[in-house]
Amino acid sequence: MSGQLFVIGTGPGNPDQMTPEALGAVSKATIFFGYGPYLDRLNLRADQTRQTSDNREELDRAGAALRAASEGAIVCVVSGGDPGVFAMAAAVCEAIDNGPDEWRAVDLVILPGITAMLAVAARVGAPLGHDFCAISLSDNLKPWATIERRLKAAAEGGFVIALYNPISKARPWQLGKAFELLREHLPDATPVIFGRAAGRLDERIALQPLSAANAATADMATCVIIGSAETRVIAREGKTDIVYTPRFSVEGTGD
Ligand SMILES: C[S@@+](CC[C@H](N)C(=O)[O-])C[C@H]1O[C@@H](n2cnc3c(N)ncnc32)[C@H](O)[C@@H]1O
Repeated sequence: MSGQLFVIGTGPGNPDQMTPEALGAVSKATIFFGYGPYLDRLNLRADQTRQTSDNREELDRAGAALRAASEGAIVCVVSGGDPGVFAMAAAVCEAIDNGPDEWRAVDLVILPGITAMLAVAARVGAPLGHDFCAISLSDNLKPWATIERRLKAAAEGGFVIALYNPISKARPWQLGKAFELLREHLPDATPVIFGRAAGRLDERIALQPLSAANAATADMATCVIIGSAETRVIAREGKTDIVYTPRFSVEGTGD
């Protein structure tokens, strides 16, 4: 008998930014798989069990969750933010693609969540108000040359760029290198937003021009949003600046 497998996101960390739909899945499930700090956000009941694992063991975790669901359990796989953005939903799909036939029979329910770039964008205004893209700066799962090519194409294409996984102890230089590359394609004044731990108690938001953007401002809990040539900053007396990208694009200004 096959059970059910929910794949949910907790949102960026503010409990009010977890969807009612995801909360409904949490109340139904009996076994939870995820990185410990994400499971800590759920206030699980005594009858619900936790299977924590390191964030780098995503495929093993997906396989274990599918095995439990295929044996009849109601299982919940938990990511931060949205589960489909650089997170567990793709790992679960990958495990099904390469796994035994019975995993294809599992009732799979992937529920959307609020991803980090949306929480960061809302803190400063509307930097994602026109075309944008999201790029993970981690070169664990793709070559650095691919990241450089995508950054250049995004800047040349006039996209606002949201960078996930900007920096870590094992990847200390990549964000600085990305800024160097983007300076060759974007104006000096292009706004760079460092949104750290958006929605959590230790949230920190910083705004710097691309010409002076300092990679040391970011850590692994930061989503960095780099404007396009059209992104604007509105200075306000006694209040934080507003950053937005106009809804209209004038031919030539963003290229
Ligand atoms: C492995 S990705 C997971 C993304 C997640 N699934 C999402 O939708 O937000 C981890 C990266 O997400 C970003 N991130 C996650 N939570 C964040 C938050 N509360 N504030 C800012 N960035 C965050 C950071 O760039 C971090 O390095």
